[in-house]
Amino acid sequence: MRCGIKLIIAVACAALPAIAQTYSATHHVGRTPTAGEIAAWNIAIGPDGRELPPGHGTAKEGASIFEEKCAVCHGKNLENPPFAPSLLGGHDTLTSVTPVKTVGGYYPFATSIWDNINRAMPLNKPGSLTSDEVYALTALILFRNDIIKEDEVMDAKSLPKIQMPNRNGFFPENPQYKRGYLQLWFWPEPRPQKKTNE
Ligand code: HEC
Repeated sequence: MRCGIKLIIAVACAALPAIAQTYSATHHVGRTPTAGEIAAWNIAIGPDGRELPPGHGTAKEGASIFEEKCAVCHGKNLENPPFAPSLLGGHDTLTSVTPVKTVGGYYPFATSIWDNINRAMPLNKPGSLTSDEVYALTALILFRNDIIKEDEVMDAKSLPKIQMPNRNGFFPENPQYKRGYLQLWFWPEPRPQKKTNE
């Protein structure tokens, strides 16, 4: 009897690749995306901003756009939790016991602010902003976080050059890291983790 079950399992396993192939061939699930579809989704802006489109904006221009399209959730003053994250503050809190991760205090690259607004905001109508509007809104957030001046023009050249306050707060994983060991940055050697449930 036991032998019979083993035989059934072995035969079933041997047949799996054939079954999988038959399924994918008959179900016709999905299709190869077209070049246009990939281009429409391929909007990621990397840290060096080389993908940034033409356009420009200042914090002054951003203020009126923010009031019209963003303030309802983020608040006129850019601080309206809990409905939406605060776009101000957080600076110098990252090493405290209650870190506040904001765009100004936490993001290492200003280009990520542009990317985030462009792809996801306003939350109720993502993708509706022009490039000029996104540059202006990014400039407003940078200005209100005391990172740039009110009349500084943000464009594909100037934005990647902005030095964010937390630019050097990220570092690569320690190559000595071992699973099951407690690895803290201020301990050069990994220490065995204490087992708490024994
Ligand atoms: C309908 C409410 C709503 C509107 C309108 C809205 N936001 Fe947001 N926003 C949110 C919420 C909720 C989050 C957090 C969730 C997320 O990131 O998707 C967020 C996140 C963000 C973040 C990232 C914050 C972080 O700490 O990482 C930025 C930047 C931002 N919004 C900017 C804008 C700008 C600029 C506008 C106007 C064009 C806007 N938002 C309009 C609700 C809104």
